[in-house]
Amino acid sequence: MKILLLGSGGREHALAWKIAQSAACEQLYIAPGNAGTAAHGTNVNIAVNDFEQIRSFCIDHQIDMLVPGSEEPLVLGIYDFFKSDDALRHIPVIGPSKEGAQLEGSKAFAKQFMQRHHIPTASYREFDDSSFEEGLAYLLQHPVPIVLKADGLAAGKGVVITSAYEEAAAEFEGMIKSAKFGDAGRKVVIEQFLTGIELSVFVLTDGKNYKILPTAKDYKRIGEGDTGLNTGGMGAVSPVPFATDAFMEKVENTIIRPTVEGLRKEGIIYQGFIFFGLINVEGEPFVIEYNCRMGDPETEVVIPRLQNDLPELFTAVQQERLDTMQIAEDPRAAATVMLVSKGYPEAYEKGREITGIPLPAKDQLVFHAGTRAADNKVLTNGGRVMTVTSLAGDLRIALAHSRQTAEDIQFEGKYYRRDIGYEFIS
Ligand code: AMP
Ligand code: GLY
Repeated sequence: MKILLLGSGGREHALAWKIAQSAACEQLYIAPGNAGTAAHGTNVNIAVNDFEQIRSFCIDHQIDMLVPGSEEPLVLGIYDFFKSDDALRHIPVIGPSKEGAQLEGSKAFAKQFMQRHHIPTASYREFDDSSFEEGLAYLLQHPVPIVLKADGLAAGKGVVITSAYEEAAAEFEGMIKSAKFGDAGRKVVIEQFLTGIELSVFVLTDGKNYKILPTAKDYKRIGEGDTGLNTGGMGAVSPVPFATDAFMEKVENTIIRPTVEGLRKEGIIYQGFIFFGLINVEGEPFVIEYNCRMGDPETEVVIPRLQNDLPELFTAVQQERLDTMQIAEDPRAAATVMLVSKGYPEAYEKGREITGIPLPAKDQLVFHAGTRAADNKVLTNGGRVMTVTSLAGDLRIALAHSRQTAEDIQFEGKYYRRDIGYEFIS
């Protein structure tokens, strides 16, 4: 099989590393990829949202499978683009239709979907320009903290949580009246604040059947002790110690199955990953958000623990026979620690040389995120630069190994959190 993977983050490096190990993968291309993905296939200089160029590439290189790593092409409708084109229709796309991707692309769509299928989530109301005054009144009598969510994709920045009414009102007005998050924020969801500990659950579905992948927890805040600004993710661990069999049974019965069945009943085409962003409220799971792709950096701990052949699973997805597959998990724990550029998630510099990147080892993998190769050097090319994943029988050991390597890798302005996994090792 000739496979084209779309994306350029640590998630895509982990996916490329895994896909390239499959005997079924004859050739792997990554568009646009990074300095790390180039070790597992051929990087192609095409942006993930440039559908016309992706189309030409697939035809010219006789691509047999498309794997979108990030949400952008999915929310923009790459599935539908392929299925409505005579020259591309035969190529399986591992991801949902544009309608299915609305689970991530529209908070209002996701909330309505959950309500229709009685899936536990925070109670909410949605407002737009026509209900602005009503929304303001609703907000001012809402218990604090108040959670405001811009409806569409907002690069992880569309959620505001505040206990100050004035700030909430100003944010609400900014979202609706001044389009603070562009059209993404023209509609706003105001929801109940849930208190608990979050985790990420990933499912691969063929539209009828599903398989649950290893659980993970990511660390979104920039600062140690979960302080400071939200980021794309500063590290992750897998498995999640509190995701016991009893808890996961509740997740499957009240959340996963109703979601997959709900999509099928509504005729929404969905053959790909579903990312359930969950919160454990006193032992009961609630959905915080859906994403239509794998998480980053969760993929960097989930994929190394997955013992299956990934292209084989993808083929089973396309042939709607996931029920014949068995997921095999490495019993060891995995931890990943993300190295970022000083200033991230706000302004940061690029182009710094990275040294001290270790060679791949049995129990450790370095996945590149924002990097690029130039003149035999590896340079920083993003806020999240690379992540160090370690596997060990004990999470504590995996974390210590990742921290040590994070220390050894050098670039100007390097920062990483030393407390990833803190709540599970004290
Ligand atoms: P989202 O983009 O929906 O994942 O929201 C970003 C982050 O905000 C989540 O990872 C949570 O930490 C937090 N969050 C979102 N919704 C809620 C909620 N209803 N209650 C508590 N925290 C929330
Ligand atoms: N790590 C969270 C995400 O990928 O959205």
